[in-house]
Amino acid sequence: MPLHASAGVVGQPAAPRRRSVLNWLLGLWASGVAAAVLYPILRYLVPPDVPEAATLSVTGGKASTLVPNSGRIVPFGSAPAIVIRTAQGDYRAFSAVCTHLSCTVQHRPDLQHIWCACHNGHYDLRGRNIAGPPPRPLEEYDVNVRDDELVVSKRS
Ligand code: FES
Repeated sequence: MPLHASAGVVGQPAAPRRRSVLNWLLGLWASGVAAAVLYPILRYLVPPDVPEAATLSVTGGKASTLVPNSGRIVPFGSAPAIVIRTAQGDYRAFSAVCTHLSCTVQHRPDLQHIWCACHNGHYDLRGRNIAGPPPRPLEEYDVNVRDDELVVSKRS
């Protein structure tokens, strides 16, 4: 009697050990799948901490090609800027990002305004919001002419 019992006991421990190894491997595989699914989601939800572009000054093209009563959009870091030459010949520069919902503004020679086409927002040639939904003036930049090159700079 003890002989049968011990034969059954001898065969028994191998199955639970094999099962625990399989469970461990299954858990490892499930963890890998979960990590592969969750990592991109977490990277999307928590974007990397990228410092703001340190652009302080850009060239805005040839001054001589910007005729009076016209404007030009130039890249300023990751955002656009607008360089204006007034009818009197003065150069001015502003952020071209509308303060309402961030559309890019443009110069309207017929109105002598800076205009946002998205919701009919108007700014005067000093960047002040004068009509439509924009809540604030445009950020003003400095603009200088060096060797016929427009240099647009952030104000310090
Ligand atoms: S985004 Fe410019 S007026 Fe709305």
